[in-house]
Amino acid sequence: MLSKKLEEALNAQINAELWSAYLYLAMSADFASKGMPGFANWMNIQFQEEQAHALKFLNYVISRGGKPELRPIEKVQTEWASPLEAFKDTLEHEHTVTSLINNLNALAGEEKDYATQSFMKWFIDEQVEEEENDQAIIDALKMIGDNGFGLYQLDKELATRVFVPITPAP
Ligand code: FEO
Repeated sequence: MLSKKLEEALNAQINAELWSAYLYLAMSADFASKGMPGFANWMNIQFQEEQAHALKFLNYVISRGGKPELRPIEKVQTEWASPLEAFKDTLEHEHTVTSLINNLNALAGEEKDYATQSFMKWFIDEQVEEEENDQAIIDALKMIGDNGFGLYQLDKELATRVFVPITPAP
């Protein structure tokens, strides 16, 4: 059984993951409307991943006898000045998510809820990958600068990203 404190924190995290999904959907739509289908695809996969994260938390709350609460999702920004600005915001947002994940893990430790600490390990590892992916694209965009052909090539590369479902399914 989850403590009330942990149940509250896990419910807040469901909302944070859904807000992340909303943010990346907005970025995907912005890229698509500006004729950058590869960037739009990459963000759409990110949108799907965040929904899967939310579902993983939601199902975990249920499995521990808690009650998931679906709270309102705050409005997000809808336009970015450039791909570099969007990816800088993405990385900054993922740093925030990493702090949330670390705080949840620390709270589980304080509450001596070792099952939740074990559950959080997947997310701790996932955040390393998320930040690494964002940084790699930021590095590429900095190298490309204003070179239109470079941007075109990167757009083609990002178009190849596919959604890989979480295993085992959440
Ligand atoms: Fe669900 Fe991008 O962290």
